[in-house]
Amino acid sequence: MGLYGENDKQGQYWNEQPGQSWVIHDAAMNERLQIISDILFEDLEVLECKNGLDIGCGAGSTTRRLHETLGKEGHVTGLDISGKLLGVARSHSESNGLHFLQADAQSYAFDREVFDVVISRFGVMFFENPVKAFQNIKSAIQPGREMRFVCWAPMSANDFFISPLKTVVDITGVSFAEPGREPGPLAFSDRTYLSSILQEAEFSSVNIDVVETSINTRDSVEQNAALLMEIGMGFRAIKEADPSDEILSEIRQAFINDGKKRLENGVISYDATIYRVSAMA
Ligand SMILES: C[S@@+](CC[C@H](N)C(=O)[O-])C[C@H]1O[C@@H](n2cnc3c(N)ncnc32)[C@H](O)[C@@H]1O
Repeated sequence: MGLYGENDKQGQYWNEQPGQSWVIHDAAMNERLQIISDILFEDLEVLECKNGLDIGCGAGSTTRRLHETLGKEGHVTGLDISGKLLGVARSHSESNGLHFLQADAQSYAFDREVFDVVISRFGVMFFENPVKAFQNIKSAIQPGREMRFVCWAPMSANDFFISPLKTVVDITGVSFAEPGREPGPLAFSDRTYLSSILQEAEFSSVNIDVVETSINTRDSVEQNAALLMEIGMGFRAIKEADPSDEILSEIRQAFINDGKKRLENGVISYDATIYRVSAMA
């Protein structure tokens, strides 16, 4: 096994340059994902949990929120493959009831049946072997308790992905195929496939709701353009195209112009579609 368990490629990705972008833009992404976080946490308090796990917790925004939701008696673990993102998470807070663990969720030897809730905001789509990963996660959940996560519906239903991508493709001519089921943000965008993975991992009561929502920011159009140059599908296409500085400026300006069209009452908005997934161990 490599340095990052059974997910060496993703481990490198999230510990090196692209992961670094998430470190720099953590606050900006939390702002953009605020509504989606609220969807993830809807009614969570009624589950009356005491021991929670946040998979692919990144810089820990949802881990901290889970800890607040569970209250003083609660224990929460944020698990992530990226030491860089966990560094940010730990700098916010770590206490008796809240701690962070660097590990590969697919191969980490969890204690069995300890957690009474597992959550994830976009942190479970990066496994080489998703069935094995979810079997491993399930082994750590008390029988009958809930795992819930949000993941992305297809790219065509997500403006935040498709719009910057189209801009980069139009300007550079780079060919960029819609990602398939390989590890990545869109790996679970086929609902039937996602359902089959969770069934195969022997979760029960699998429920996948399609939720139409939005990604919003009060950043300036310039700040928003700077973020799009470093995160998301536009960024991935820029890396692929490897354009000159002149073309990079053209792309940045196109992102700014697009931001201006989206701006209303000081807010830049993108339509987004996610799956809200719940399943019982
Ligand atoms: C899109 S980010 C989401 C981060 C965080 N949940 C949030 O919403 O800000 C995906 C996260 O999954 C983590 N990740 C990827 N593969 C992983 C694995 N095999 N085990 C644990 N974490 C993983 C990455 O390091 C990254 O922090």
